[in-house]
Amino acid sequence: MLAELSPALTAEVQRAAKLLASKQRICLLTGAGISAESGIPTFRDKQTGLWENYAAEDLATPDAFARDPKLVWSWYQWRRQLVADKTPNPAHDALAQWQYHTQSSDQQLTLITQNVDDLHEQAGSTVIHLHGNLWRNRCSQCETPYQSQSRDSYSSEDSSEDSIDFNEGLIDCPHCDGYIRPDIVWFGESLPAQAWQAAEEAAANCEVFISIGTSSLVYPAAGLAQLAKQNGAKIIEINPDPTPNTIVDITLAEKAGVIMPLLIQQITAL
Ligand code: OAD
Repeated sequence: MLAELSPALTAEVQRAAKLLASKQRICLLTGAGISAESGIPTFRDKQTGLWENYAAEDLATPDAFARDPKLVWSWYQWRRQLVADKTPNPAHDALAQWQYHTQSSDQQLTLITQNVDDLHEQAGSTVIHLHGNLWRNRCSQCETPYQSQSRDSYSSEDSSEDSIDFNEGLIDCPHCDGYIRPDIVWFGESLPAQAWQAAEEAAANCEVFISIGTSSLVYPAAGLAQLAKQNGAKIIEINPDPTPNTIVDITLAEKAGVIMPLLIQQITAL
């Protein structure tokens, strides 16, 4: 399979594998790009259908929810339906396999994601979620957790937008007069303290930081690579498109689903 890559990219994958096999503390940050090959659109993709006139940045904010809670709730109902039948792709699987492999080695992998889907968990990984969880809910006012949505209740044979009842309405909090919202970090909100602390610690202490499928535009998550670099780590980036990340030591400019299985195969063979 390595033969399918250009000679230059093949050499870079080998260089990355050698570097990774020689280090003990590895930190990985994934973004929407790792789930793209599972069929979940990234945030920089233009929205389609019902939502084509909206940017994700205009829906995923506390102000948007305060202004039009039904619109924002409906958007998340749609996103839940979109994700419900999606499964891990070879990139998620390779990462889970590597994490499993390190249980019997002296390597320590910390996997951090900005994604709110659960494809890393489905593949068998342990992961720190920085931006929350698509299936969980909480009150928008008193913050009390509210019953999670089940993935199964969204998967149906008809996955078209028409099959969602957008008039289903909002859910009132049983404890106060707030509405229930998805337990997701919106633009302008703080990241969950425990998850962020664990992520910062892993980034500051790692020897190699791998950025996979993220545009590196949204902070504070995008700052983790810089933190790692300041503390002496090498930076590897896996993304078919260029990013504003200027501190990268090894760029693997291909889809994560192509690179990750090759990279992990080489690391575990070394
Ligand atoms: P983005 O949508 O900003 O970026 C996705 C990145 O994935 C882009 O740089 C693409 O080039 C890359 N990409 C696309 N297909 C890929 C593939 N097959 N393999 C590897 N890379 C691929 O997603 P994030 O960086 O995750 O926040 O966005 C960060 C945050 O902004 C999200 O968590 C979300 C969003 O608004 C919240 O919802 C709070």
